[in-house]
Amino acid sequence: MTRDRPEPPLALVAELTHRCPLQCPYCANPVALARASSELDTESWLRVFDEAASLGVLHLHVSGGEPTVRGDLATLVRAAAALGMYSNLITSGVLLDAARLQALAEAGLDHVQLSLQDMEPGDADRIGGFAGGHAVKLAVARQVRAAGLALTLNFVVHRQNLERLPAMIALGETLGAGRIEIAHVQYYGWGLLNRDALLPTRAQLDAATTAVEAARMRLRGQVVIDYVVPDYYAARPKACMGGWGRRIMTVTPAGRALPCHAAEGLPGLVFPSVREMPLAAIWQDAPAFARFRGTDWMAEPCRSCDQREIDWGGCRCQAFLLTGDAARTDPACAKAPDHAMVLAATAASAAAPPSYVYRGDRRTRENVR
Ligand code: SF4
Ligand code: FES
Repeated sequence: MTRDRPEPPLALVAELTHRCPLQCPYCANPVALARASSELDTESWLRVFDEAASLGVLHLHVSGGEPTVRGDLATLVRAAAALGMYSNLITSGVLLDAARLQALAEAGLDHVQLSLQDMEPGDADRIGGFAGGHAVKLAVARQVRAAGLALTLNFVVHRQNLERLPAMIALGETLGAGRIEIAHVQYYGWGLLNRDALLPTRAQLDAATTAVEAARMRLRGQVVIDYVVPDYYAARPKACMGGWGRRIMTVTPAGRALPCHAAEGLPGLVFPSVREMPLAAIWQDAPAFARFRGTDWMAEPCRSCDQREIDWGGCRCQAFLLTGDAARTDPACAKAPDHAMVLAATAASAAAPPSYVYRGDRRTRENVR
């Protein structure tokens, strides 16, 4: 792999805001969230979308926080559609209703990815920290279909809801989802603080994998089920974001351009702002995007590993969060010198889980910048 001019990104993740009415303990956003006053305004996002389309971006993922807190969402979606980008709204759904979904469909929205915390209302609302949220989500799922939009239901699974996985899949079927994503929690940002409360046991994971395989057989040709084994139990790490600076570009609410949602926390890297630099220049020339692109940066065991252009050495942010050094092999890899850290965490999952730590705790509110 060389340092030639990179291929353009396929997708832009536009994090419109960090504001969110939910308080999921597994939130992958940073511990310190961006304030509303620091968010890019409508004009800036429109310029960013224009630059993204010119760069070659085909898919726009509108994300957050909760992107529907933005009053300009339909304007932004309309602009993306006019630029020919396929738009996906990643949402908790609790602020949506039939009229707003219809307006978004008319603006050109293509797809909604709706997250569900569980299939039992009480547990779902407890995990999301939002009373009544689950009932709204069920209504919104039906409204998405009624508006003619493609629907993916995203179930976030962990040790405190995995036993209900077959019922979650059945619920997704009932709601008319074309795709069901079973997403094991990834431990970034706030979610890492709650790892011991969320990491499943090996027995739970094996039962879940069996349930997914059975559902895939049963629903073949009707519903696609995406399922990724959680990092901590995989022998090899995921190709995070399809490789650093290879497929996906993220823009934070305040306008910082990143190769992934968690990169802003990596020390020693300067991520340019879209307020100051065009997207194409950032993608092609910013040293922070080149830092872990390809394989030149790798040390052993990745450097000589036959998987290096498959998983691209795993996740730089996970390497940093667990070892303090983003250039080390992702400890999720069984070949990594630091793999014992991951094994210790999975061994600890046999103990009773501690309580969740919510963002609403006063201590953490004081940390919000
Ligand atoms: Fe991937 Fe590196 Fe592990 Fe090889 S050693 S499988 S390249 S993380
Ligand atoms: Fe940043 Fe994986 S989340 S590289």
